[in-house]
Amino acid sequence: MMSRKENSTEYVIKLETVRRCPIVVGDGIINQLERYFDFSGYSGIALLTDTTVQKLYGQRVMKALEATGKKMSLLTLPVGERAKSLNTVERGYRFLLENNIDRKGLICALGGGVVGDVAGYLASTYLRGINYIQLPTTLLAQVDSSIGGKVGVNFGGKKNMVGSFYQPSAIIGDVALLKSLPPAEMRNGLAEVIKYGLAMDGELFRLLDQKKEREFTTAELKDIVIRCCRLKAGIVEVDETERTGQRAILNFGHTVGHALEAATKLQELSHGEAVAIGMAAAARISVEVGGLDRSNIPVIENLLSRFGLPVYCQGVNPEDLIGATRFDKKTTRGQTGWVLLKGIGNGVTNQPVADDVVRKVLTEICR
Ligand SMILES: NC(=O)c1ccc[n+]([C@@H]2O[C@H](COP(=O)([O-])OP(=O)(O)OC[C@H]3O[C@@H](n4cnc5c(N)ncnc54)[C@H](O)[C@@H]3O)[C@@H](O)[C@H]2O)c1
Repeated sequence: MMSRKENSTEYVIKLETVRRCPIVVGDGIINQLERYFDFSGYSGIALLTDTTVQKLYGQRVMKALEATGKKMSLLTLPVGERAKSLNTVERGYRFLLENNIDRKGLICALGGGVVGDVAGYLASTYLRGINYIQLPTTLLAQVDSSIGGKVGVNFGGKKNMVGSFYQPSAIIGDVALLKSLPPAEMRNGLAEVIKYGLAMDGELFRLLDQKKEREFTTAELKDIVIRCCRLKAGIVEVDETERTGQRAILNFGHTVGHALEAATKLQELSHGEAVAIGMAAAARISVEVGGLDRSNIPVIENLLSRFGLPVYCQGVNPEDLIGATRFDKKTTRGQTGWVLLKGIGNGVTNQPVADDVVRKVLTEICR
């Protein structure tokens, strides 16, 4: 069950999975970590971050962790997706061993999805599993990757090939940290926020649609992050390890998105841009199969464009994309299970779509 507590500074969602995991969202809460998590039973703390986040927030978070009186060690990873590798994991194991992190040790992941995924995987395997908490610092990590316990690294040139489901003991998201996010990273997160709106929460979509400016105030960001955390927590609670199919709703826009990333070898498009094009494509496919009224297409495309996200792609062969959609992770026995829309805020999972429909839409969007 999910319950909540509200006060003036922070908002707590109680995510009930195999491990109870409070999700705390607030403005300026990173300095007072002890208020939100009980560090008392831990023998030592290993803080993992990346070089950019270390420069911006490392000192502040170390100070907050030092206030616990626990022995603290810091591992700073290089920035970016390339750090999501087994080499980094090996480096992490050595670091944990050298710093005498034992079964009662705690890993704190301070950063975006890359740091969170690596730190979570380290926590899930080191000494057969030690506790970790997520301190997400990107919008994408606060609304998506820190929640739900999917942890892992890339392998053999493929994303997230090695990993596990391993829930954190707490997620503490401070929206004040988003002020330093570069616009491109903000857009990556916003693509996921729009995904929640389109697939699960029509009111969230309308709130975004009514917004005149591209920039968000901290109060608006806090509301958005809370809303998305509640949506994701609700899904994770009913399908923690992706067994019942309900979690697939979170993949709206990702079938074409992943295909685009594969076809462009991640060189030209960011993940958020690929997902934005993927959502535009999935909306058009929804219209073709009769699930969505055509009048929604300009509304969806205008919103994506207003937030600086693309809805068309150039220089990609639609046939390559069609091939790549067949290799989506959600493909079973050769059949791609599409997430489509019946309306804004009303996504449906596991929909079969004929190849000629996919071809028609992908030809439209690959200009
Ligand atoms: N586990 C999951 O369920 C899940 C879900 C979605 C995505 N992911 C993974 O998440 C990763 C992407 O995460 P991401 O978008 O956070 O990327 P990221 O972790 O690479 O962070 C993006 C960039 O922002 C910088 N940064 C982070 N916080 C900052 C801040 N507050 N101010 C300024 N700069 C900051 C980082 O140093 C980095 O350069 C991918 O590897 C993806 O596979 C995982």
